[in-house]
Amino acid sequence: MDKLIITGGRALSGEIRISGSKNSGLPILAATLLADEPVHICNLPHLNDITTMLTLLRCMGVGVTIDERMCVEVDASLINDFTAPYELVKTMRASILVLGPMLSRFGVANVSFPGGCAIGSRPVDIHLRGLEAMGAEIEVDGGYIRARSNGRLKGAHIFMDTVTVGGTENLLMAAALAQGTTILENAAREPEVVDLANFLVAMGAQIEGIGSDTLTIHGVERLTGCTYPVMPDRIETGTFLTAAAAARGRVLLKDTDQHMLEAVLLKLEEAGAFINTGKDWIELDMKGNRPKAVNLKTAPYPAFPTDMQSQFTAMNAVAEGTGTVIETIFENRLIQIHELNRMGASIKLEGNTAIVTGVERLKGAPVMASDLRASASLVIAGLVADGETVVDRIYHIDRGYECIEEKLQLLGANIRRVPS
Ligand code: UD1
Repeated sequence: MDKLIITGGRALSGEIRISGSKNSGLPILAATLLADEPVHICNLPHLNDITTMLTLLRCMGVGVTIDERMCVEVDASLINDFTAPYELVKTMRASILVLGPMLSRFGVANVSFPGGCAIGSRPVDIHLRGLEAMGAEIEVDGGYIRARSNGRLKGAHIFMDTVTVGGTENLLMAAALAQGTTILENAAREPEVVDLANFLVAMGAQIEGIGSDTLTIHGVERLTGCTYPVMPDRIETGTFLTAAAAARGRVLLKDTDQHMLEAVLLKLEEAGAFINTGKDWIELDMKGNRPKAVNLKTAPYPAFPTDMQSQFTAMNAVAEGTGTVIETIFENRLIQIHELNRMGASIKLEGNTAIVTGVERLKGAPVMASDLRASASLVIAGLVADGETVVDRIYHIDRGYECIEEKLQLLGANIRRVPS
């Protein structure tokens, strides 16, 4: 297992390019199952999770061709196996996203039941209830969700009692080829859901209310090929901005979009960052100052994203003052604080609230990544700590950050990867 070795204390400074979004690339790849012609997806990030999704499509018989710039041609006209096996689902929960499209197009889908994960129990009950409302018969057998539909799925009026990104995406994809109209209420409005909806429209789907919490989908008989570039990764963008804020630096991030990051940019300004934006770039400058601690509470978009919570906790750990971080989406997503405290942070945990009192300096230590975004917070802590930090189990980071050490090196960080 590789490790990252970081010698902290350098102010980050420079320019980097932001990659395509993992969390929109994954549902978009799953949605290619709906088309009966080849589809071209561009700007995909080169990440383990994307590779896992492509492997999953391939093992179902889908034709996948990748060029050197991570543009992928997907041809789902030849699919011959309707199973998402345990071996793949256990490495990536987002595999559940093939359930809706596979069932809707082929009337059958067997998907290994995703388990919980480090950040919480993460049920899929809303996905399943929605598909049942559309006429699917679903049973769980031998650890698999076995879904069948007698003919096309039927449009339905579905109210989701929790805002779920994956649930909204699965039902949106299923509804695209269903017979009649589906209304999804209390739908997630995350930019990745919008990107998926725009992709479905590019394939010929009829969707109203994109970007709102009520999606109306008029099912069509077939979806066709198209070429679609995946949106920039807002969480990667936010992570590099927060790293620069914690390290009192100045960074310019290119090929990104300020509009999907309003809650994060607002909090960075509150922390003392000077932010400039252009059509496809964001610049953050701390002018050498220590960040000020901020209070935040995670909630569905457009509020502060849970995927940025741990990075802000790391920034608060070295900020001036005390910041309160409340996690409302996943029950166990403050686990990284124990590792941060081992580096000299002063963080108290009370239920789903972390009370972070900033310290002048953290001290490098060997630490262990436990999930994707928690690992990013350990990297940020390592960048601002005195001495050497060794981050173990970085396969979590590789699931979500393309070339993280190369990009940080470009910004002047002292970071290297070593095989263990
Ligand atoms: C997606 C993102 C993840 C992000 C999360 C919340 C991807 C691949 N992952 O995960 O990075 O942190 O959105 O923004 O896009 N829930 C239920 N029943 C369900 C489904 C969800 O109770 O059927 C609950 C979950 O346990 C959680 C909450 O709803 O507490 C939100 O989860 P959800 O939005 O579904 O997260 P994911 O789609 O898994």
